[in-house]
Amino acid sequence: MKIETLLANVAQHCGLNDPYGSTHIPVYSTATFDMKRQNDNDVIYDYSRTDNPTRNALESIFAKAENGYGCVCANTGIAAISLLIETILKTGDSILVERDCYGGTYRLLNILLEKNNIATVYADFTNEQEVETALQNNPIKLILCESPTNPSLKVVDLEAIGNLSKKYNVLFAVDNSMATFAAQKPLDFGADFSVFSTTKFVSGHGSVTAGALVSKTEEWHTKMHYHANAYGRAQSPMDVFLTTLGLPTLVYRMKVQEESAITIAEFLKTVTKIKEVKFPALKDFAQYELVKKQMKVVPAVLTIQLDSEESANTLLAKTKLFGKKVSFGTADSRLEIPAQMSHATNSESCLASKGIDNATVRISVGLENTEDLIQDLTQALQ
Ligand SMILES: Cc1ncc(COP(=O)(O)O)c(C=O)c1O
Repeated sequence: MKIETLLANVAQHCGLNDPYGSTHIPVYSTATFDMKRQNDNDVIYDYSRTDNPTRNALESIFAKAENGYGCVCANTGIAAISLLIETILKTGDSILVERDCYGGTYRLLNILLEKNNIATVYADFTNEQEVETALQNNPIKLILCESPTNPSLKVVDLEAIGNLSKKYNVLFAVDNSMATFAAQKPLDFGADFSVFSTTKFVSGHGSVTAGALVSKTEEWHTKMHYHANAYGRAQSPMDVFLTTLGLPTLVYRMKVQEESAITIAEFLKTVTKIKEVKFPALKDFAQYELVKKQMKVVPAVLTIQLDSEESANTLLAKTKLFGKKVSFGTADSRLEIPAQMSHATNSESCLASKGIDNATVRISVGLENTEDLIQDLTQALQ
């Protein structure tokens, strides 16, 4: 089944045995279940932290969307990432991470190092030799990368990294928050896990913070589910409900946002105070061939380099349609300076290694009229 069909009617495809034939996934907002009244169910529900029919329905959709065995929906994207890492790694193990990772992931890895002596080795995943050398020289248990990376928008060859993970017998996880399963399915490229924040494109309306972790095998899914219950990472039924509202339009939103972002990127290239415009859907993007091979749609996130910190601050201050907001993938357009906002907890050397500074601006293009957005940017960049 194609992704659009799966997402158009999640109530039908979620596996929930609803006696009333609900046309939307019903919200079971309840802490407990009467176990005596569930004679015919496959799962006997007892407590919503462990399992809840509303959450299980969304998990079933995500597992299908990502071609995985099972999914655990967590209360945020970072909760899903920490569940992944803490379930797999123990004290003394190492994790290999693409250098350009989300600021919150970097913060989490620092805490894990301090508390559990779980070391992080960073590498540039667009350089396969660097990844292989890191695998040869360190006790790596898990590889983790985003693609495109946030905020530098590097595209990682997932199949190549998947092959390396097999060669060195380590697990491989992809943070699919930005691309989403509408663009790419990491498990098809050899990953063992796809982990993502549904706060962004997947829910799409900025109304929820939530996340998900899809495992390729039953064995790993069972462990993730067990730990999610033990750590208390469960997503609430109301957050599931808000997430499901965005699903039928996900593919279409992403396509329209991509088109708009291409036009905006071409406009930004003509502005003299902008030194660089990065957007993987542009034909002159360095890894355009890989983008075409790996992704069905490009998420509408652009990163631009202005000529000074002052120009960046002025742009953020003067735009009227673009909010000064972290996060991306929502219906409303937004701007941020990653070094001061989403990646503010990164050390200066870490930011420098990603090639970002106070003149780097990340733009998330929403669903507004493209001409209106360009008009707004024009006046703000004058
Ligand atoms: C690439 C990436 N992964 C994970 C997260 C964390 O997701 P959440 O904010 O839902 O915890 C973010 C948040 O910005 C992100 O950009």
